[in-house]
Amino acid sequence: MLAVSPNEATKRHVLLLVTGGIAVYKAVEVLRALQKADVDVRVAITADACKFVGTVTFEALSGHPVATSLYDYPESSIPHIDLSAWADVVVVVPATANIIAKMTYGLADEIVSATLLACEKPLVLAAAMNTRMWNNPATRTNVATLKDRGVQFVHPVSGLLACGDTGTGKLAAVSTIVDVTLCVLNQAVCGMPLAGKKLVITAGPTHEALDPVRYISNASSGKMGYALVRAARNAGANVTLISGPVNLDIPWGVTVVQVDNASQMYEATLSEFKQADAAILTAAVADYTPAHPVDHKLKKSIEKVSQIDLVETKDILAKVSEEAHGRIVVGFAAETNNVLEYAKAKLKRKNCSMIVANDVSRKDSSFGSDTNCVTLVMPHEVEHLPTLGKDEVAVRVISKLVQLMNNAQFGVAAQEV
Ligand code: CTP
Repeated sequence: MLAVSPNEATKRHVLLLVTGGIAVYKAVEVLRALQKADVDVRVAITADACKFVGTVTFEALSGHPVATSLYDYPESSIPHIDLSAWADVVVVVPATANIIAKMTYGLADEIVSATLLACEKPLVLAAAMNTRMWNNPATRTNVATLKDRGVQFVHPVSGLLACGDTGTGKLAAVSTIVDVTLCVLNQAVCGMPLAGKKLVITAGPTHEALDPVRYISNASSGKMGYALVRAARNAGANVTLISGPVNLDIPWGVTVVQVDNASQMYEATLSEFKQADAAILTAAVADYTPAHPVDHKLKKSIEKVSQIDLVETKDILAKVSEEAHGRIVVGFAAETNNVLEYAKAKLKRKNCSMIVANDVSRKDSSFGSDTNCVTLVMPHEVEHLPTLGKDEVAVRVISKLVQLMNNAQFGVAAQEV
């Protein structure tokens, strides 16, 4: 067994296996990103991969010796057994056609393939290779076989390859590989309390067009909503994200409906909610939209605009709550003053199950920041959370949602929540 130092005892473990392809350097970025998510990472690397990036880089960054063979690992005399036992999740970056074939047939002739054969933990393979190798029937069959065995693939994407060809084979974005790995890790460690449940989540601002090039909007970044999408997906939910225009990576493994304005968000949300088990509406929906948008660019020299007539948009949260019939509906309230008072009033007015309130005038809780300080307001309970990263806030909100859904399912009265 590998020794675990006290400051690593609470961390989750990812074993990063590196095989020989030009994308090896991106494995270094994956390692760094996993560490930023508070994960302890160890590395084993094939002799071919060492030709692309030396072990010193992985050793210095991971803070652990790197296993390069079955025989000379300083922390264990049987590294393939001990490393696979130490890991909560194993991720292979890049996974070449060769390692995929070796896994399919159970070969174990060097450290990486032997570790994979000994491994009973969840496996993530970020494949990268030449297009013709990826499309070869042998690789197609091997990938299908491994998927049947439960291996999670991060498929290569299309682009310009190192060999000069253009096609599918390029390693997926580091952010996608990390997102998938953290999702699999979370499910391995925490289980999937929302398995089999469908959730609708709205996020981001809306754009209310004045003309084809101008719109009214707000400063919502969508970060909190996207963090909730990842947390709900990690908890096993089948998530449909209804997203306004934002500048964020689409989370892996969720259905996305892109919308521009409040009216489109209303239609999409109501339609998706019909088959859903719960909804979380984080979007900063515009309260007003121009009454008379024009289909051409307004010219100041021709059309003097001195005022804009606005009409109120439909309240999506109120309507979803009306259609909920016992399903849990969560809203958000971004306020600059009287936060609790306004949140309680909103909970009542919109008749939802919970309002997540935050003071956006605070630096640690503003639009666009990576942290948030929220209060969970329910009919008979108020819970203040400390300032946390938005991912951690999302985990707390999802865990409260799970509790509310369980209480609703088993008929626990609201005051007993
Ligand atoms: N919301 C909605 N549809 C709208 C406006 C808001 O679904 N047309 C939802 C938001 O997604 C959020 C909650 O209602 O979950 C609160 O939004 P907020 O803008 O804070 O509340 P308003 O109803 O706009 O009230 P006020 O402007 O008085 O704060």
